[in-house]
Amino acid sequence: MLHTIATATEKDSVIKFKKDVLDGLQSSPKELQPKYFYDDLGTELFREIMKLPEYYLTDCELDIFRHKTQELSKLITQDNDRFDLIELGAGDGFKSRHLLDYLVHNNSNFTYIPIDISKSALTYLTESLNAQLPRLNIQGFQGDYMEMLPKACKGTNRRKVVLFLGANIGNMEVSQAGEFCRKVQSILYPKDRLLIGFDLKKDPKKVLAAYNDQSGITSKFNLNLLERINRELGANFLMDQFEHYPVYDPITGACRSYLVSLKQQQVYIGESQVNFQKNEVIQMEISQKYDLNGIRDLAATTGFKTLGMIMDSNEWFVDAIWEKMG
Ligand code: AVJ
Repeated sequence: MLHTIATATEKDSVIKFKKDVLDGLQSSPKELQPKYFYDDLGTELFREIMKLPEYYLTDCELDIFRHKTQELSKLITQDNDRFDLIELGAGDGFKSRHLLDYLVHNNSNFTYIPIDISKSALTYLTESLNAQLPRLNIQGFQGDYMEMLPKACKGTNRRKVVLFLGANIGNMEVSQAGEFCRKVQSILYPKDRLLIGFDLKKDPKKVLAAYNDQSGITSKFNLNLLERINRELGANFLMDQFEHYPVYDPITGACRSYLVSLKQQQVYIGESQVNFQKNEVIQMEISQKYDLNGIRDLAATTGFKTLGMIMDSNEWFVDAIWEKMG
């Protein structure tokens, strides 16, 4: 079953995109929101990023889901009670699939509720899971995951377990991550659980290389957002006049990507003109890295109790499992 809730028409979403782009490029420093990376081409480029030798994050979390499945399962199940497993931004579910497989084969009593913005991703996910695990109950929700989470929660009074994988929380500043966790906490009931994937602080060279790959895919991924603005908003960014520049601060754990304007230039976005000084930057993305204490603090300050932290064999990545207090 697929629940589609039409929240915005195509046209509304172009208007919102244009407003966000203009607001971002008219502020100082200039910025664009990473959620806009993921049009069809950007989604494809991100798939390529996940296969890069330098991009360790996906392999690490996959290692956890493949090899620490039993530990994960222990931390999300509770005396064989019936629960709903909700995944925010499920995509093709290639990591969660390992957990689902384990739960089904151990006769856990649960419904899988993937939420994704992409209808085609949800359709593919549902069909491939039906083939792989015919006994699995699935109820997909299409839409923005923060809009869909309350709807997915209201459906039943079963215990909820929410998955937020892939270090997607890294795209938020630490303060915004706190707001996000508090928001999820307010939607959940006591004893409900939240599992979040965090990328950990490590050798700074290793972190930086993940966002500065030799083959230049990450650069293309960033520039694709300018191309998307050209395509969808009738802008005239010149790709060879901007350069991808990632930096990592090992103290704060913030890895940030910028596009640097290589000359003084004007760009039109529809009717609006945006001026760039030579070497002026657009802040594109934060990929925040955490340490275990920072993650414990985040849980404690947002109303959760830490039940467990499961790391990959390199200890580069962690899936933290929390329970709502109360
Ligand atoms: C999908 C947000 C986890 O920050 O590592 C990868 C996105 N950007 N390479 C990340 C990304 C550049 C990725 N997240």
